[in-house]
Amino acid sequence: MKSSAVVVAGYVIDAPEWGRLRSWSDGAVVMVDGRIAAVGPATEVRLAWPEARWHDFGPGVQPVILPGLIDVHVHVPQYPVVARVEDELLPWLERHIFPIEQNFRAGCRPVRDEVEVFFGALAAHGTTTAMVYAAGWRDSCQVAFEAAERSGLRILMGTVLMDVGPHGPWAGLPSFDRRRRVLAEAEALASEWHGRDAGRLEYVFSPRFALTCSMELMREAAALAAARGCALQTHLSENTAEVAAVAAQFPQAVDYTDVYDRAGMLGPRTVLGHCLHLSDREIVTLAAAGAAVAHCPTSNLFLHSGLCPLDRLRAAGLRIGLGSDVAAGPELNMWQVMRSAVETQTARAWFEKNVPRLTPAQAFFMATQGGAEVVGLGRTVGTLEPGRDADLLVLDLNRLRPGPATATQPDGHLTAGEIIALSLYRGGPTAVLETRVRGHIVWPRLPDAPGSSLLSSDGGF
Ligand code: GUN
Ligand code: ZN
Repeated sequence: MKSSAVVVAGYVIDAPEWGRLRSWSDGAVVMVDGRIAAVGPATEVRLAWPEARWHDFGPGVQPVILPGLIDVHVHVPQYPVVARVEDELLPWLERHIFPIEQNFRAGCRPVRDEVEVFFGALAAHGTTTAMVYAAGWRDSCQVAFEAAERSGLRILMGTVLMDVGPHGPWAGLPSFDRRRRVLAEAEALASEWHGRDAGRLEYVFSPRFALTCSMELMREAAALAAARGCALQTHLSENTAEVAAVAAQFPQAVDYTDVYDRAGMLGPRTVLGHCLHLSDREIVTLAAAGAAVAHCPTSNLFLHSGLCPLDRLRAAGLRIGLGSDVAAGPELNMWQVMRSAVETQTARAWFEKNVPRLTPAQAFFMATQGGAEVVGLGRTVGTLEPGRDADLLVLDLNRLRPGPATATQPDGHLTAGEIIALSLYRGGPTAVLETRVRGHIVWPRLPDAPGSSLLSSDGGF
């Protein structure tokens, strides 16, 4: 067994708990058969694993090894329309999002190329796991799953479900027929993709949000997710006009959260995007159900939606991960999302009393282990512990620093906290040396891989 071991060495950092960094400045991670077999000081690893192959990152680099980043809320068909500025959510959906999703099907757009670009970009940014909304169409979701399979990434995804309003598949049909069809298509996709490649791909039932869904659709989607062991994702309380419209559409519900509660949508495998304008009652309801939150700070600022009350959500015990929410969030870069999370709490603290600051280490936790817990993979990925899958990201510290090592610190040495802060403020694809999922290199892509596969026959080691 030991002979197949591959080692990546450098400054190893992870965040096993909220705000706590664990690190080895001269460390090494041993990977065997896609799993992490050992982590520790490089000198000890060398003695314990004499036959292991040490991966060479080439001259002049200073590798930093981190758990792969986790994006818990992103929309694949929306990538081409990032940065379309509007005053707020509902007009933005009408003008940019519904039209582009309507066309996101074979024959209308180069969907195959677009999904290839999207998953390639995730990997290039160091994101190893993402929970994704596809468009409503079965054919483009199928193509997206095929690209996700080839990409080597860990992807949880599903068609966005709608049966109310003029947008989405089968929009001309009566609500009942529409619902039958979109749910049958979702089930067919779930049958084909949920659990594929030993669980690397998962199907997620994804009712878009209360405004485009009947109570029946939401109920049935929740029941199907539960019956099939799938996650469920939707948007909750993102924008005040949206909250008012939901109250008008569901007058019998106490509040927005109660709509989802009545539909049986709230449970431990439910991921709710945004959660900005919640009452205490709603937060307690979510916590009692064990639901999780996708905090999307770049999106919340871009669409002028609001500032997330992170401390209130955390105090209730909710699990919280970070989402880029492309295209409401303008980019896939999770370091920018972490930075925005930090700055959102800084902004709140100016006009609200007793708002705790968010540190880079806390934001990093949400983008790694916290995100893993949100999507139900909290024991599989998220940290660099023996026994976990080897999903990791290697950065070059030299590409993060503004100058030579000795210019940034007299002895050239940075603490783990300083490296995470540097990454948060300056990190992005240009600093990524490689991205791995289950030990396979998923970025950079190997040239001329067969069938446009990203992996070599030996798994890219
Ligand atoms: N609410 C319903 N659909 C969407 C969407 O596509 N993006 C965002 N940010 N909010 C939504
Ligand atoms: Zn969204």
